[in-house]
Amino acid sequence: MINTVIFDLDGVLVSTDELHYLAWKRLAEELNITGFTKADNERQRGVSRMESLEVVLEKSDKSYTDDEKKVLAEKKNDYYKESLRDVDESIILPGAVETLKLLHERGVKVGVGSASKNTPAILDKTGLAGLIDKVSCGLDTDKSKPEPDVFLIAAEKLGSDPSECLVVEDSAAGIEAAKRAGMKSLGVGPFNKTLGASICADNLADNVNWDRILN
Ligand code: BG6
Ligand code: MG
Repeated sequence: MINTVIFDLDGVLVSTDELHYLAWKRLAEELNITGFTKADNERQRGVSRMESLEVVLEKSDKSYTDDEKKVLAEKKNDYYKESLRDVDESIILPGAVETLKLLHERGVKVGVGSASKNTPAILDKTGLAGLIDKVSCGLDTDKSKPEPDVFLIAAEKLGSDPSECLVVEDSAAGIEAAKRAGMKSLGVGPFNKTLGASICADNLADNVNWDRILN
């Protein structure tokens, strides 16, 4: 029986995907990388900051040392944080607040499992922090999705067995991480049907049958 739901953050609870994209694009332009597209950005969904940087640098003729890559990733994060400065509850995706409240009413434990090291700041700025029991993010582990660690840490913090957990994800890497963690999954977002999740929905407002999932 499912008694715990672990939500990814970017693209599931909040619409930060576009802000990540714009920050990477700004960095790419500074590096004179012209071919960085939305399609490339889709491959950054769910993966860590350093792996996302590799997707950008694939399009560069120049090679970078590890130290230079760290500086570039930091720069992108500065641009991203700049764009987060004024965000508020308006970036919360449809159905997210209602779903979190419904789960609390039913006594379901609610966690977040995200690769993003900016997770705590985003949860605070949007007011979502008050609706989440425990958070596991890129600050808790260096192993990023599809490794299962971020979800296993969330389950441990919540005191739940993986078999009792459902993961809500918008990325293929995240769905694979849920599988490796031994958890069921609900795929959402523009590619929900292609992610390999146990259940699919366009977004959390899309008539997700929680009665069926929880029983
Ligand atoms: C994921 C995003 O949630 O977090 C990725 O989907 C991003 O695109 C990753 O690269 C890491 O985020 P951050 O905020 O730590 O750079
Ligand atoms: Mg995501």
